[in-house]
Amino acid sequence: MSETETAAAAEASEQRPERKRLFIKTYGCQMNVYDSERMRDLLTPLGYEPAEAPDGADLVILNTCHIREKAAEKVYSELGRLKPLKEAKAAQGSSMTVTVAGCVAQAEGAEIQRRAPVVDLVVGPQTYHKLPELIASVHRGRGEALDTEFEVEEKFDVLAAPKRQIEGYTAFVTVQEGCDKFCTFCVVPYTRGAEWSRPVDQVVAEVRALAAQGVREITLLGQNVNAYHGDAPAGHEAEGTWGLGRLVRHLALIGGIERIRFTTSHPKDMDDELIQTFADEPKLMPYFHLPVQAGSDRILKAMNRKHTAAEYLDIIARLRQARPDIAISGDMIVGFPGETEADFEATMELVRQVNYASCFSFKYSKRPGTPGAAMHGQIDEAVKTERLARLQALLNEQQTAFNESMVGKTLPVLFEREGRNPGQIGGRSPYLQAVHCDGPASLIGQIAEVEITGASKNALSGRLVPQETRAA
Ligand code: SAH
Ligand code: SF4
Ligand code: F3S
Repeated sequence: MSETETAAAAEASEQRPERKRLFIKTYGCQMNVYDSERMRDLLTPLGYEPAEAPDGADLVILNTCHIREKAAEKVYSELGRLKPLKEAKAAQGSSMTVTVAGCVAQAEGAEIQRRAPVVDLVVGPQTYHKLPELIASVHRGRGEALDTEFEVEEKFDVLAAPKRQIEGYTAFVTVQEGCDKFCTFCVVPYTRGAEWSRPVDQVVAEVRALAAQGVREITLLGQNVNAYHGDAPAGHEAEGTWGLGRLVRHLALIGGIERIRFTTSHPKDMDDELIQTFADEPKLMPYFHLPVQAGSDRILKAMNRKHTAAEYLDIIARLRQARPDIAISGDMIVGFPGETEADFEATMELVRQVNYASCFSFKYSKRPGTPGAAMHGQIDEAVKTERLARLQALLNEQQTAFNESMVGKTLPVLFEREGRNPGQIGGRSPYLQAVHCDGPASLIGQIAEVEITGASKNALSGRLVPQETRAA
């Protein structure tokens, strides 16, 4: 081999590092889904290839959620299942590095390794960018096995660099992280840190790259996404910081992007510009997730939500004025400490007034370290269960009625995948409803009109409006 050949071979082997298997399991919210994808992107150049199961993997990452007790407990059961797999790998003379990332990592830190010695590495949500170096130090058998600093700015600087590999036609883009609201039930301000917004230029670069890969729909993510206040693009005449409405209008100009959504918003951060954007930006989809949590002002105050039920209803009314067909979604908690039957009835009444297209509802779960956990008047589990059942019966009724109201209408559907039955394709309506119909796989990745013929609680069915009609 000549000298140049040797150099070329060395370069080639540098480009193609040893192949390793990476298994990532994601819990919790969409921001974790986004973070998991970005961790994968960061590790791909190091030779890690995605695996479908943890068996035999070289690196396992559990990207965890701490929002409710059950979510956190799931992590420990999964770690229990990993133990024999790690031992089997060791018996083969190889090793499996077990990493706990995400909000449980942030909240429990070193406690995780004490409780589950199978864990090699603990990284909080703001230190993923350091994963390659942390993994290397674990492999060397020394160095820090715990990193839960808050370095959100560095995180996004580093994550901006590697190319995003996206499969499919819809993508999440985190634009804001953290929360300064401190609702008394919630761990997020402790696990994700203070509120921070990515600069507009960085978001634009990421969305452009996604559009170039064929993405048609983006969902902007943030724990308080409508508190977004990112630095204006360099050299733009509107300097300072931009709100979410302005960002949405700007991203709508990017070729290839047909649909924009965002989640999750807080009532206190609602501004007129954002409401107006629903009225005059056709690419912003008429579906809005605005959690309220409770309908009783007394409970809202105890929750430190910083808004009343009437203020919430006023925002909904203004949104409906701006965009009459807007579908409203929300989050509710039942059984917060001190909740009486009358308080709960106020929640039911608010739900009747809003008439939700969809709504998540949860039993209050005591989270260590939050003010709610120490409050008097904790509610009996049986009472919570019974109230949740009543609330969910009402919400299910509303969701079914909303879906049924689509029958006979023609909706533009972004097709994302083949359907369950042969010859079927599936996608989403503007209102985020799952829609399936018979159609060619060639429509996947495109928006086509579907006449809705059937509806259930969770999905719509219909038939494609024939091509000739569509062209006319
Ligand atoms: N940032 C978002 C969502 C945070 S977590 C917001 O402010 O709306 C998602 C949902 O989980 C919350 O809206 C709330 O309904 C629920 N949740 C959070 N903490 C909870 C707890 N301790 N018990 C039960 N539900 C909780
Ligand atoms: Fe949690 Fe409240 Fe912040 Fe939402 S606004 S993340 S519920 S503290
Ligand atoms: Fe869970 Fe953390 Fe998201 S606690 S809901 S993964 S911000």
